[in-house]
Amino acid sequence: MLRRLHPVQPDSFEFTPANLEWAQAQITKYPEGRQQSAIIPILWRAQEQEGWLSRPAIEYCASLLGIAYIRALEVATFYFMFQLQPVGTVANIQICGTTTCMICGAEDLVAVCKRKIAPTPHTLSADGKFSWEEVECLGACANAPMAQIGKDYYEDLSANSLEALIDRMSAGEVPVPGPQTGRFASEPASGLTSLLAAKGGEAANASVALASDLGETLKRIDGTEVPILTKWRRNPLAASDDQTGIDTAPEVEPRPSDGAPADATGVTEQEAQASSAGRPVSKREPANVRADETDAVTGKDQD
Ligand code: FES
Repeated sequence: MLRRLHPVQPDSFEFTPANLEWAQAQITKYPEGRQQSAIIPILWRAQEQEGWLSRPAIEYCASLLGIAYIRALEVATFYFMFQLQPVGTVANIQICGTTTCMICGAEDLVAVCKRKIAPTPHTLSADGKFSWEEVECLGACANAPMAQIGKDYYEDLSANSLEALIDRMSAGEVPVPGPQTGRFASEPASGLTSLLAAKGGEAANASVALASDLGETLKRIDGTEVPILTKWRRNPLAASDDQTGIDTAPEVEPRPSDGAPADATGVTEQEAQASSAGRPVSKREPANVRADETDAVTGKDQD
């Protein structure tokens, strides 16, 4: 499939201040001179902010990383996860069309999308609120058929339940993600038959609960949703863990500590020689083969 930039492009793009701070923090995860390796997370955040990747957005990300535009364009056009055309202002609905979902009714879900959104994928609905596409297995086969909408999975779908979800989203609601049939997670659809004692009293499974807590299911991401977790960027006046401007997290030294002796022998953790439990002693070993595993403290041969 040929992936080209959309013929209609916005004039400009820039990160929100919080997203820019997030992006700069991601760049510090890579060694000096290898910052371009951050291209995928940076492009992804640009898409999370705008819904799709415009040419100005791709060029902005390339400039941020100090690489040629073509390098960023190559990445954006290679991976299908990057949307190169505008998506619905409310949601781009990704219907899984792979084997399990197909057997369980994905074609019915696609038919709903064609009728309610647009006859062809990657096309905006008349009101501009929705778009849809068919994607490969999203790894939730036990809850087929399913769709990814925004950041979350809506599972155990039927044509009716998908139609109802689209109507609710169109009305401004954010329906609770996860199984739509009352199933807790991916236990048997007819109910648990084993591990009954492990059944908790939670209202929703962990991923649904997290999605509901964060509340970022459908919205565009402006960077204020979750803390920036790059504790090595310790600047009390700027970047912070809680985004209040003050980093109150305790100072934690990275381990192993280069140059700092691990014990009284003066040996650092990097240099410490441990004998390998993966090499059991054998009487057939040639003499002195374990000389390199001699205990540094006692001077005794471990054999
Ligand atoms: S086949 Fe649809 S999630 Fe795997």
